[in-house]
Amino acid sequence: EEGLHATKYPWVHKEYTKTFDHQALRRGFQVYREVCSSCHSLSRIPYRSLVGVTHTVDEAKAMAEENEYDSEPNDEGEIEKRPGKLSDYLPNPYKNDEAARAANNGALPPDLSLMVKARHGGCDYIFSLLTGYPEEPPPGVKLPDGLNFNPYFPGTGIAMARVLYNELVEYEDGTPATTSQMAKDVVEFLNWSAEPEMDQRKKMGMKVLVIGTALFALSVWVKRYKWSPIK
Ligand code: HEM
Repeated sequence: EEGLHATKYPWVHKEYTKTFDHQALRRGFQVYREVCSSCHSLSRIPYRSLVGVTHTVDEAKAMAEENEYDSEPNDEGEIEKRPGKLSDYLPNPYKNDEAARAANNGALPPDLSLMVKARHGGCDYIFSLLTGYPEEPPPGVKLPDGLNFNPYFPGTGIAMARVLYNELVEYEDGTPATTSQMAKDVVEFLNWSAEPEMDQRKKMGMKVLVIGTALFALSVWVKRYKWSPIK
């Protein structure tokens, strides 16, 4: 069963002449960290990749150090705990899928690294999903226990409840943390996590366009010039 089609939003970061807004990415990471990361992993993102994108080196190091990771086995084959480093990946909220399902009524919160690419509708879908929980399901709709009504989710019964509410986080840049602002920021951040090379790609595309146009114009001119005595 199809869900309601997501509204199309004018995402600025997707425009050909625009880049990711790094302040939005920083706010979006904050939302991921303070809200989503208790259930969803972001397993393709190492702390080092945040450097220069959302955080300074020192900030990223400090965040990594807040977590413990298994060390390499020592000479006795023992594994110890060590603080995180820049090269470590963001930690998973659960030990394994079984633990994740046990904590979520049997449902598995999917990894969010590539979610923007994985779901039909991408940014629009995730934004619609996060902001699309009505106070109550429409009259006549009965969902099994543990499922929440969301018209954008295919099937409309989703194991994830509404998670974003006004002022849930406090942004350090003073941006009002409304539900839609947080949803917008976390979606832009998740677009970065799925396509960290997007800005580079646009820049390269622009170079190809500009240089290609110049070379084409030159070749037209050369052709006319060379052939002009023959006409
Ligand atoms: C599913 C995003 C917070 C639990 C999902 C999906 C997305 C998502 C995109 C996939 C929906 C689909 O399959 O089409 C987010 C974001 C969050 C967030 C951006 C933070 C703003 C949470 C939290 C929990 C949670 C805090 C746990 C309390 C789940 C579960 C599913 C899910 C269990 C699977 C739903 C199902 O298959 O029925 N989430 N989520 N999520 N999320 Fe979240």
